[in-house]
Amino acid sequence: MAVNVIIMAAGKGTRMKSALPKVLHRVGGRSLLQHVLDAAAGLGDKHTVVIVGHGAEAVAAAVGPAATCVLQQPQLGTGHAVLQAVPALVDAHATTLILNGDVPLTRTATMAALLQACAGERLALLTVDLADATGYGRILRNGDAVQGIVEHKDATPEQRHIHEVYTGLMAAPTAALKRWVQALKNDNAQREYYLTDIVALAVAEGVPVVACAAPDETEVLGVNSPLQLADLERRFQRRQAEALMDAGVRLADPARFDQRGTLQCGSDVEIDIGCIFEGAVQIGEGAHIGAHCVLRDAVIAAGAVVHPFTHIDGAQVGAGALIGPFARLRPGAVLGAEVHIGNFVEVKNSTLADGAKANHLAYLGDTTVGERVNFGAGSITANYDGANKHRTVIEADVHVGSNCVLIAPLTIGAGATIGGGSTITKDVAPGQLAVGRGKQAAISGWSRPKKAPKA
Ligand code: UD1
Ligand code: MG
Repeated sequence: MAVNVIIMAAGKGTRMKSALPKVLHRVGGRSLLQHVLDAAAGLGDKHTVVIVGHGAEAVAAAVGPAATCVLQQPQLGTGHAVLQAVPALVDAHATTLILNGDVPLTRTATMAALLQACAGERLALLTVDLADATGYGRILRNGDAVQGIVEHKDATPEQRHIHEVYTGLMAAPTAALKRWVQALKNDNAQREYYLTDIVALAVAEGVPVVACAAPDETEVLGVNSPLQLADLERRFQRRQAEALMDAGVRLADPARFDQRGTLQCGSDVEIDIGCIFEGAVQIGEGAHIGAHCVLRDAVIAAGAVVHPFTHIDGAQVGAGALIGPFARLRPGAVLGAEVHIGNFVEVKNSTLADGAKANHLAYLGDTTVGERVNFGAGSITANYDGANKHRTVIEADVHVGSNCVLIAPLTIGAGATIGGGSTITKDVAPGQLAVGRGKQAAISGWSRPKKAPKA
């Protein structure tokens, strides 16, 4: 069944008190509008129209080629918004689904159920029972039959006691929707064209109106303020955390977990508190992620342990590797199996072969490190000459002492040893010991200067 989808996104979002258009604020790293577009994408064959107004250029740019944008200027209400969209609807698509750009967590299945209830001939409303219905449009019924929606501001004190509210999502027969929005008037408390008034028009025409109950409150909550944005963020993270835990991932605390992209986990993965996962992250079987790590676009192989406070961005960690605490892996860091990267070690655009170690206070940039290399505490590769970057090659089984500076371009041959405190500027042949530092002098009988007596 091909459908039209209208997404309302012209509103200002005054209560966000932000220069950013409301629908471009983010939940789980994706804009509110993107959540709606993504959930609607799951419906399959459809034609999508986004109504833009406030921040129209930025919103249209965010939508991209995925949908047609129509401008609503000025914003005279939800009915007026849909009126702007109807010329862009595909007539042949019998059903039109209306969504809100600031209601991000509606599931595809709920949208599909609404379309099913409409079936191209009924007006289907998504409703929910709220303990506090303040501000929402109330569903008016005569017996069981839905008669209309009354907006909070227009409701009588009795009507305000109704807890069944309209969520802002509906599905309507396309041809009838066009007719109804053209007939709307703005004789109400807000002098707006209310989309909700089409319910009474449908009833008057004898078109059946059905109310579908939302599966849960989270699916229909909208964002109007930073507080509500943060609340939806936690609900969204809880949803993701539950999906991971259902798949067997052990989260130390689902309330202290943030996934802002995709996270694929093998079996027996453990994730401690306060971690943030961004972009596309994969974690292999049995890997452990310590507290307060930030992982972005990373692949962590099976059995690896990432100790607390580690930052990994655009990097790969091999099987059984030990990383951190307080390590930083930058883009292009590719670590083999059983590699050890310890505290305050930074690795950028470098490969470390199986079993290589840099355990303390080191920098490896633009470097190829062979198997079982030990890179000493405080040692660095000097990869930048002030204008260009150069590579360092450290072959297998090299031992680099502490506090060395390896000035690239440079090759250290297999099995070579670099004496602690050396500055190395020339290639070292395999098996050699290279020492490049001032010779130690011994001066006997030397007495230290003494403090002058106070005057
Ligand atoms: C609307 C419903 C109300 C429902 C509530 C659910 C109407 C008249 N009322 O009220 O019954 O309970 O949503 O959240 O529809 N928008 C435009 N152009 C406009 C006005 C609004 O694009 O001229 C967009 C907004 O950006 C928003 C959506 O339409 O995404 C809803 O508008 P909003 O002002 O939030 O409507 P409510 O007063 O909340
Ligand atoms: Mg609203």
